[in-house]
Amino acid sequence: MKTDDLKKAAAQAAITYIEPKLNPETIVGVGTGSTTNHFIDALGAIRHKFDSAVSSSVASTARLEDVGVHVIDLNAAPRVLVYVDGADEVEPGKAALKGGGGALTREKIIVAACDEFVCIVDDSKCVDQLGSFPLPVEVIPMARSFVARRLVELGGDPVYRDGLITDNGNVILDVHGLTIDAPDTLESEISNIAGVVTNGIFAANRADTLIVASAEGVSIR
Ligand code: 5RP
Repeated sequence: MKTDDLKKAAAQAAITYIEPKLNPETIVGVGTGSTTNHFIDALGAIRHKFDSAVSSSVASTARLEDVGVHVIDLNAAPRVLVYVDGADEVEPGKAALKGGGGALTREKIIVAACDEFVCIVDDSKCVDQLGSFPLPVEVIPMARSFVARRLVELGGDPVYRDGLITDNGNVILDVHGLTIDAPDTLESEISNIAGVVTNGIFAANRADTLIVASAEGVSIR
């Protein structure tokens, strides 16, 4: 089975999982990326079953509006029932590494604000320990070199993601070679460096529900 078919299967399983929870007042949180794009496309078909969505990126907002989903600002959302998003890696404790698409800051804000984070992946994203995928760190532009030096002190090899400005007007350093054996600790350590907006470790607010699609079928963990 092709990876994209697995992404679609995980997204469809998320629709089946959230549909019974929806009511006309529900606000659904929506992530960013190719797996989430399949979720958005399927969400359009059930748009009459919930009120609106909050979105983690300009790209997802445009796609949601294309399928007829009303998108509101998070500031106007008293409650986000469920947030559905992909990941670049996820480990057995459901901590994830995210931000390959550069939307990590808004993703992390909505994850923190939601009642339930449903992470949807194909099985190639499941790892024993995070860190083979380079860790994205969103940085205020003037702090780029300073933050890079601090990340080297932490054992990483930061690479500037050339040409990318985030939806928040910042830059991204992709950090290779980190040993992420204590995701909670490293998440807060990196976030505490002055000039860092967010890093792509989602451990403090990890997935509540993990939907994994493989050639054998879909599992909900
Ligand atoms: C975007 C993300 C994505 O969820 C992550 O990169 C996975 O993307 P895809 O579903 O395209 O494999 O964190 O910032």
